[in-house]
Amino acid sequence: MCGIVGYVGPQSALGVVTAGLKRLEYRGYDSAGVAVLADGGLATAKRAGKLVNLEKELAERPLPTGTTGIGHTRWATHGGPTDANAHPHLDNAGRVAVVHNGIIENFAALREELAERGHDLSSETDTEVVAHLLAEEFSGCADLAEAMRLVCRRLEGAFTLVAVHADEPDVVVGARRNSPLVVGVGEGEAFLASDVAAFIAHTRDAVELGQDQVVELRRDAVTVTDFDGRAADVRAYHVDWDASAAEKGGYASFMLKEIAEQPKAVADTLLGRIDGSGALTLDEVRIPANVLRETDKVVIVACGTAFHAGLIAKYAIEHWTRLPCEVELASEFRYRDPILDQQTLVIAVSQSGETMDTLMALRHAREQGAHVLAICNTNGSTIPRESDAVLYTHAGPEVAVASTKAFLTQLVACYLVALYLGQVRGTKWADEIRAVVRDLSSIAGAVERVLETMEPVRELARSLAGKDTVLFLGRHVGYPVALEGALKLKELAYMHAEGFAAGELKHGPIALVEDDLPVVVVAPSPRGRSVLHDKIVSNIQEIRARGARTIVIAEEGDEAVAPYADHLIRVPATPTLLQPLVATVPLQVFACELATARGNEVDQPRNLAKSVTVE
Ligand code: F6R
Repeated sequence: MCGIVGYVGPQSALGVVTAGLKRLEYRGYDSAGVAVLADGGLATAKRAGKLVNLEKELAERPLPTGTTGIGHTRWATHGGPTDANAHPHLDNAGRVAVVHNGIIENFAALREELAERGHDLSSETDTEVVAHLLAEEFSGCADLAEAMRLVCRRLEGAFTLVAVHADEPDVVVGARRNSPLVVGVGEGEAFLASDVAAFIAHTRDAVELGQDQVVELRRDAVTVTDFDGRAADVRAYHVDWDASAAEKGGYASFMLKEIAEQPKAVADTLLGRIDGSGALTLDEVRIPANVLRETDKVVIVACGTAFHAGLIAKYAIEHWTRLPCEVELASEFRYRDPILDQQTLVIAVSQSGETMDTLMALRHAREQGAHVLAICNTNGSTIPRESDAVLYTHAGPEVAVASTKAFLTQLVACYLVALYLGQVRGTKWADEIRAVVRDLSSIAGAVERVLETMEPVRELARSLAGKDTVLFLGRHVGYPVALEGALKLKELAYMHAEGFAAGELKHGPIALVEDDLPVVVVAPSPRGRSVLHDKIVSNIQEIRARGARTIVIAEEGDEAVAPYADHLIRVPATPTLLQPLVATVPLQVFACELATARGNEVDQPRNLAKSVTVE
């Protein structure tokens, strides 16, 4: 959710912090603020709205120059997106400033307590209590890191905090429980941020903070302890991408860039995971082969787009392994007392690796004795760290809020896991696995071909900008693709969009069909499972007979659907199970273009944030 940056070093802190915030704006963008230690005091600026409002404010009323500072870009939880609720928050003396990501669950009690002791709290946020508590503790110990440890021991909930104090001018202190926080280690300078993207232009050497840790940053020293002050273990790593990967590179939006990067992302996710004989070598799956052989059920937990990847994975896992596979919305999972044991393999799918619902689901699964495999795009994030094993998708940084390239690579990773399970358990013959692997290896080229033919889709999207509703239909793996198409359109174009299993139409949704209603249909391949294809052709005819404008995604050479399609979008022929890799791409382009035509900003849709670190 919120984006946090801290800096101490020789450079102007304001420049470093605001540039970092720019890279983190995808995390939240309803207000922003900075604090700089300068001239023995603390100077702050904050503004409701996007970062550009803060930049304007700073241009009109520049802050004094200082070399230690913190900044924040917010996704509101407690209190609306106003100037007063924007971070940083200060104590009454204006000596300590704090920024926060997460929710402090006992803030109401703490606030009351502080008011009784004479503190005057002016915002509606849960964060402000921390500034006041830090000030109190600092007055006793004159050590900001120690004050932070004392305060953290009193906080309940999930939080990442970063603070500075005017009496310790070359120190930034951070604390982490659940929400992400990474240290960047430079030469004579150090950074703190919710994501490495904030400091990647300065250093690629990162240190990942663990749960319940406090870090003290000085120019030439980074000290990490637990909340009780004991030295803590941390993991240092080198980031394998550079600043250019987190820039738009000439595209009008990150989303367009990320859509275009999909062929490479898909190829990168396959790289090094298939040996010369065509067998899978998933060394990262450190769950022992005997455990995988004894597994009697697979459960996938995920949210949003990652959940849709899970729905598609179910078809592949059940087909290739003959293991039952359940797919669960992570936000619902632990509340319904799911049946899990040591023979359950739980797969947690997450681009960010920080989604709180998914994290809580995997913790619950591990408590029940299940083995957890993460499929994740973000190195060093919490979900892989708390899992038994991880298969990283190699999509590179995904900045646009709407997930595109991460989704395709999640699918590839899910297929790899399904095939690997089949390989280990012996449910699939080696030559059959090799045949699928061959098909997977050619998928990057197929995605590339889809991207080359998107102009008519863009045109069609623009022509529908005045519509209120679009429906999406699919069967088999086309059904989750329909759900994904609808989700993209909702979040980007703010239109009523719904995805249905085409067979369900007659059980209710067909009542929605009226004259000229756009209905996107994902047609399965006419080869192989042709019964599915026959059924969808009937469904298209049914809606068309009721006036729908049919937009059909069909494989090249599928002539049977053509007479019933008002608009035909061709995708290369693929095996049925792999079709989502090509069929989803036109839906991403469609949503992106339609949103743009409606004047929406595609990278930062309203009310959303990229990384959802609250439940
Ligand atoms: C939609 C989208 C979200 C995420 C969901 C899970 O375009 O991006 O639905 O897929 O919030 O996020 P991760 O994958 O980071 O766990």
